[in-house]
Amino acid sequence: MTQPLIKITNLEGGYGDIKILNGVNIEVPEKSIVTIVGPNGAGKSTIMKAIYGIARVTAGSATIMREGKEINILATKPYNLSKIGIGYVPQIENIFVAMTIDENLDVGYIPETGKSLEELKESMYVRYPDLVSRKKDRAGQLSGGQRQMLALARALMSAPDVLLLDEPSAGLAPALVDQLFDELVRINNSGVTILMVEQNARRALEISTYGYVLDMGKNRHEGAGADLAVDPAIVGIYFGKRNQG
Ligand SMILES: Nc1ncnc2c1ncn2[C@@H]1O[C@H](COP(=O)(O)OP(=O)(O)OP(=O)(O)O)[C@@H](O)[C@H]1O
Ligand SMILES: [Mg+2]
Repeated sequence: MTQPLIKITNLEGGYGDIKILNGVNIEVPEKSIVTIVGPNGAGKSTIMKAIYGIARVTAGSATIMREGKEINILATKPYNLSKIGIGYVPQIENIFVAMTIDENLDVGYIPETGKSLEELKESMYVRYPDLVSRKKDRAGQLSGGQRQMLALARALMSAPDVLLLDEPSAGLAPALVDQLFDELVRINNSGVTILMVEQNARRALEISTYGYVLDMGKNRHEGAGADLAVDPAIVGIYFGKRNQG
């Protein structure tokens, strides 16, 4: 097997002295969609937060392949992760509600993309036409679905080839969940590798190349997304009623 684009190995850590991650292993092949599912409190968000320096890492590693070399993600300052091509949409507070839609896109931009701010913003408005008439509105006025699209657009403003998404479908009405997952497939088809955490486990796994079930801060199961999505043992134990739809 070729080297995965992202490799998280024996990751341990948590908050202060509280240990949440007890040796997590995740591999994300280039151009894949990989989903991490698991019960509330399993440590899914903590993996993302460890990468972004919000949770404490006590052991293990996280690397990304760049030009044939492994770059240490954990030694990369959070504000530099966009410069090595990684975009992040956190589970909560993923847009700046007091700023306009246009300003939210400005914030996501970095000059390292090699593209102009205007060019990138224009491509986001083409991609998300619902946002065009709202450019000057405060982001806090957007509907839930529009907010998630803006959060994705803001992350895409740094032209990443990897997106880390924490519960992108959280809080969305079922019809919007479908739209969101369709959008993630489109983003993936444009060449962006996606590592996401999702509560909407079955739907997320259906579009995933590969999936991991996390429990108590450790790997519990893994397999092809399509297989995990229909595995009765996993569906029953881990997904819960509200996540089976
Ligand atoms: N800042 C923090 N300080 C202390 N403990 C925290 C902090 N953030 C999260 N935790 C705890 O860490 C554990 C794992 O939390 P985490 O947010 O990673 O879970 P999760 O798998 O993302 O759950 P959910 O599905 O609810 O989003 C939980 O027990 C949570 O209470
Ligand atoms: Mg979470």
